[in-house]
Amino acid sequence: MSTREGSILSEICLSEADRRELAEVASVVVGWSLDGPSIEALRERAGQSESLRSIGLDVRRRMREDGFALVKNVPCSEDAELVAFLGLIAIPSAPGNGDTLFFDISPSSSRSDDVSGTSAEFPLHTDSTFFSVPHDVLALACVRNSDSGGESIIVRAADVADRVRAIGGADALAALGDQVYPFYLRDPLFGHGIQLVPILVADGDEWCIRYRGDILAKLTERFELDEVHRHALSVLNQVVAEPESGAVQVRLETDDLIIVDNRRALHARTALGPGERRLRRMKGYSLDNSAWRII
Ligand SMILES: [Fe+2]
Repeated sequence: MSTREGSILSEICLSEADRRELAEVASVVVGWSLDGPSIEALRERAGQSESLRSIGLDVRRRMREDGFALVKNVPCSEDAELVAFLGLIAIPSAPGNGDTLFFDISPSSSRSDDVSGTSAEFPLHTDSTFFSVPHDVLALACVRNSDSGGESIIVRAADVADRVRAIGGADALAALGDQVYPFYLRDPLFGHGIQLVPILVADGDEWCIRYRGDILAKLTERFELDEVHRHALSVLNQVVAEPESGAVQVRLETDDLIIVDNRRALHARTALGPGERRLRRMKGYSLDNSAWRII
C-alpha cells in the first residue's frame, strides 16, 4: 500500500512541562475512582490550563484536517493523565469500549473476541458501527509496540469519497448515502437488532463514514441489496482494499497516543510481528459534533 506524506504534519510532542502540568491536573482525583464526577473534574481542571487547552485545540484542528492526530510523549500508563488529556478533545465513554474507559488490546487479551485481540492484520474500518451513533473519537495509547509490524493506517473519508466517485461515478457515491446498508445494532439506548444506515454521507464539504467490510459482507447475504446499492458497495470495497495515495501509515512507539476521528476517517492495523504489544483503547464523543450526528 502506498502512503501519503502527512503523518509528520499531524504530530504533536508534549514537552516535559506539559507532562508536569498533566500530572498536576491528575492530582485532583488522587484516591478517587474514575467515574462521572472525577472525569468531569479532570476535564474542568485540564481546561483551566492554557497550555493544555491550546494543545487540545491543535489536536482537534489536525483531526479535522487529517482525520487523526499523533501525540508523542504522553503518559500512556497513567489513567488519570490519559483521561484528562482525552477530555480536552472528547467526553470519554465506557459503553461500546468493553464497558471500560481503557480497553487493553494485546494479542494475549482473552477478553477480546475481535480481530483486534489477535496478531492478524485488521483491515480498514470504523469503530462502534453497532451503535446508533458511533463514537466520534477513538484513541490508542501505546504502552509498548511489537518489535515489528502493528502499524496504524489512516484514510480520510473525503479521500475515499473522491476515489469512489472516480471509479464508480457520482451515482455510486450517492447510493452509499442511502439508508439501506445493514449493520448490527447493539446499543444500550436503542436495543439489539439490525439497523439499516448509510455508509458514506456528505455534510457540507466534509464526509462522514461508517464501515466494517466483514460485517457488511455477512449481513448483506441475509438483507439483500438492490443492484445499485450492491454495485456501490463493491466499488467502496475495492477502494478500501487499495486506498492508494490516501493512506497514512504510523508506527506507534511507547507513550505515543493516536487520536482518530472515527467519523471522518477509517483506520487499520498491519499484522503484528514478534514481541509483546500492549495498547490501551479509549473512545469518546466529541464536544462539538452535533452536526455529525447523521449516521
Ligand atoms: Fe478499530
